Amino acid sequence: MRALEGLDLRVERGEVFGFLGPNGAGKSTTIRLLLDLIRPTAGRAWLLGLDARREALAARRRLGYLPGDLRLDDRLTAEELLDSLARLRGGARPPLRRALCERLEVVPGRPIRQLSKGNRQKIGLVQAFMHRPELIVLDEPTSGLDPLLQVEVRALMRETAADGRTVFLSSHSLDEVQHAADRVGVVRAGRLVDVDRVERLRARALRHVTITFAGAAAPRDLEIPAGARIVAADGPVVRLTAPAAAMDAVVRAAARHPLADLVSEPADLEEVLLALYRDGDGG
Ligand SMILES: Nc1ncnc2c1ncn2[C@@H]1O[C@H](COP(=O)(O)OP(=O)(O)OP(=O)(O)O)[C@@H](O)[C@H]1O
Ligand SMILES: [Mg+2]
Repeated sequence: MRALEGLDLRVERGEVFGFLGPNGAGKSTTIRLLLDLIRPTAGRAWLLGLDARREALAARRRLGYLPGDLRLDDRLTAEELLDSLARLRGGARPPLRRALCERLEVVPGRPIRQLSKGNRQKIGLVQAFMHRPELIVLDEPTSGLDPLLQVEVRALMRETAADGRTVFLSSHSLDEVQHAADRVGVVRAGRLVDVDRVERLRARALRHVTITFAGAAAPRDLEIPAGARIVAADGPVVRLTAPAAAMDAVVRAAARHPLADLVSEPADLEEVLLALYRDGDGG
């Protein structure tokens, strides 16, 4: 049984790349490979032009990492922990660290063991960003954070990319990824099943169309174009799904009859993903 197979992926400088997949898909495993925390039986990875394995140390200096299973020395306070990490890494940037702590509302003076999950996560985020790394790898960055802080973390990721630096984040939340990322890689059962720009993924989604005809019943001779599918019909109301490419044909077919209304609902990315998850092989 292989954890990952045929995972061929390139992330560009200056982008936020979302790595999306269900539990156990292989997101954290991929990240651990990138950081040389585990080693592949075959295959190689490069970070910032460096060999992830042979030049791991040099790569490590230029990246920030938030592990999915964050463990912090919980006898220390946030201040003490961040101090010691800053010393280890050299090149600390106190003003940046202060700004991050303020923005993410880090509780500075209490022992970490007394902090809630979300408050620990914030410390993990600060340490990933505080040395202004060129590449930031975040495994489930907003897990445990309240909605306001999730928005703040998204903003941080966007600012990092706007600054020409790179963010790689894993998530099982479509919502998180579609708001934060430029491109999305979908991973399922250890395989990359799709990579696309967020807006293109959305455009591939099916539309939900509700047509209300003017009479008491839908016309018997309504011609549904190829690719569209009627999901419900009730009196004058017909509901169907259609790919974006078939919308013109759907509207023309409907408009051959007197209409009361036609509503096309915005694409639902969730359905694209479900289709991708379903179509992949294996468990
Ligand atoms: N070193 C390894 N060798 C082989 N299989 C592994 C190894 N490490 C993890 N796995 C398996 O790889 C699969 C993917 O696990 P991984 O933790 O990467 O998933 P994930 O996408 O991060 O899931 P989650 O969303 O739950 O965090 C699991 O089935 C796990 O048991
Ligand atoms: Mg994981």
